[in-house]
Amino acid sequence: MSKYKLTVNGAPKTVEVASDTPLLWVLRDHLNLVGTKFGCGIGQCGACTVHIDGQPTRACQTLVSKVGKSQITTIEGLHPHGEHPLQKVWQELDVPQCGYCQAGQIMTAAALLKKNPRPTDDEIDVALAGNLCRCGTYLRIRAGIHRAAEIAGKESA
Ligand code: FES
Ligand code: FES
Repeated sequence: MSKYKLTVNGAPKTVEVASDTPLLWVLRDHLNLVGTKFGCGIGQCGACTVHIDGQPTRACQTLVSKVGKSQITTIEGLHPHGEHPLQKVWQELDVPQCGYCQAGQIMTAAALLKKNPRPTDDEIDVALAGNLCRCGTYLRIRAGIHRAAEIAGKESA
């Protein structure tokens, strides 16, 4: 076991875990940030997506020992009041079905919008290709991203 000092959602956290512990389990089991989901555990589904220094990253494939001083953001930290444009739109358009994949979808979508404020359908499909939804909510996810882009555009105008 080793101690790791992490920065999660802007706050310093210290955990004592084995060096080969995936970040996903540190977040869920040690920091009680259970919005980040375990889907496949092998980097194939995107349910565990968090941001590391703003980049969408699979927490199941990221060892705690490799995180260092990077800024980790989970769905709980995307917006202080859960009011990121994507979160608001997700409710407005009823995007989720079972909801299991949606934190990962939103985290990937948020990183996309930061980089590309008005993505096309194709750009959305490419960016979110690694985020699987067993309920097949892909069309609503796409619509939600366009709507959030529109709202964010108006807010910054
Ligand atoms: S749980 Fe990490 S990609 Fe599926
Ligand atoms: S909403 Fe059920 S897996 Fe995506």
